[in-house]
Amino acid sequence: MLRPFRKYKKSGREESVQPDFSRLPRHIAIIMDGNGRWATMRGLARTAGHRVGSETFRNIATLCNDIGIEYLTVYAFSTENWARPKTEVDTILALLGQYLREAIEEIPKKNISLRIIGDQAPLPDELKALIQRADALSTNSTGLHVNVCINYGGRAELVHAVRRIMTSGIEPSAIDEDTISANLDTAGIPDPDLIIRPSGEIRTSNFLLWESAYAEYYFTPVLWPDFDRDELYRAICSYQARSRRFGAI
Ligand code: IPE
Ligand code: IPE
Ligand code: MG
Repeated sequence: MLRPFRKYKKSGREESVQPDFSRLPRHIAIIMDGNGRWATMRGLARTAGHRVGSETFRNIATLCNDIGIEYLTVYAFSTENWARPKTEVDTILALLGQYLREAIEEIPKKNISLRIIGDQAPLPDELKALIQRADALSTNSTGLHVNVCINYGGRAELVHAVRRIMTSGIEPSAIDEDTISANLDTAGIPDPDLIIRPSGEIRTSNFLLWESAYAEYYFTPVLWPDFDRDELYRAICSYQARSRRFGAI
């Protein structure tokens, strides 16, 4: 039976919703979209939207940790986002650096682990050093696994996987789906159960192409800087109201 996941008060405002915390999705992935529009609507520079968006990310990651989500993967910067003006790209990378510096402090305290997904080669050296440090500190954490996709693209990821598989010398007939999964940037991470895209766009924009084969999608017009606890809970409630059949009946 489908359970209602959106309730409206007489005033027209949405009431907050409570998911069933005993059967949460194990892995939530989010395309953090809409920062630019959020800023433009307010007469601000797009970079202001990225700043507020990075705060939203901190809040949502903390909430996911608090409610017991195991994996949170966020799309922060795509292989295609290099096409943006240099000042915008520099701001996004600087904000990621700032987040990593904070995360390095918080990883042991909060028992979270942080993994950066994507091709690090073109990233600034300072960012690469922070990524290495966060990675090393994360090995003993048992709480929320946060995966941040930076210079990530699903197609680029598959190209790298094919190259790795070819170089390994494996017999073509021995290649199976597990071989591909094991050679992706996301190797070892379970596939996402729920993929959320705010901002009103109904597309994947090259996010987790292989891994999303059986993910449930949730789209909302809310822009990422405005995404909050109620929005996350609505997405989880929508997910919990669905029947995942994986091709069976
Ligand atoms: C998402 O917000 C952040 C990145 C892609 C880095 P956008 O910057 O794409 O915001 P919109 O879609 O232009 O509003
Ligand atoms: C997807 O958003 C990438 C990230 C959120 C990092 P985009 O804003 O780049 O996607 P398009 O261009 O609208 O497809
Ligand atoms: Mg966008």
